[in-house]
Amino acid sequence: MSVRLVVLVSGTGTLLQALLDAQASGRLDGEVVAVGADRDGIEGLARAERAGVPTFVHPYVRGTDRDAWDEELASLIATYSPDLIVSAGYMKLVGRHCLERFGGRLINTHPALLPSFPGMHGPRDALAHGVKVTGATVFTIDAGVDTGRILAQEAVRVEPGDTVETLHERIKVVERILLVDTINNLARGATEGPT
Ligand code: GRF
Repeated sequence: MSVRLVVLVSGTGTLLQALLDAQASGRLDGEVVAVGADRDGIEGLARAERAGVPTFVHPYVRGTDRDAWDEELASLIATYSPDLIVSAGYMKLVGRHCLERFGGRLINTHPALLPSFPGMHGPRDALAHGVKVTGATVFTIDAGVDTGRILAQEAVRVEPGDTVETLHERIKVVERILLVDTINNLARGATEGPT
């Protein structure tokens, strides 16, 4: 089955690009039907536009009603009738509306081996802790921060002399492959996924 994907981004969107490339070369059992962002002017949106994929921007303005923002986000996503919603470098936490509407169908990727080093700084925290192996995790989003059910993981060695940037970059290479593989497994029903 080919799944309809809405991808959420906040930055450069290289994970999104991996999905678009896999789709273009027939390696993705899915179609990116829309890309959403929490800010305008980012490379992630430009990548979607170059690929002819519809985009939407839904910023959260600090101090405003977070619950209303989340409800609106859920409505925007629902417009595209997705089977899966992929948070690919999306730096916002979704709330109860998104979780109620799409629970179990929201997936995220994290640059560490969860439950180690959750949060915004997975590669930095792994380096600071001195671990010799870290990696990438694809998981379902729940109400916590990086606490959802783990769908797939891949290890990445920490090399002597690694900086946050070099380590994160090597993890991202792994994340891109892992994300495509996980979506394909979900689409084929090989991983327990959307219900
Ligand atoms: C990835 O490592 C993702 O796990 C993290 O931010 C990075 C996104 O990179 N949250 P990009 O914007 O897809 O290049």
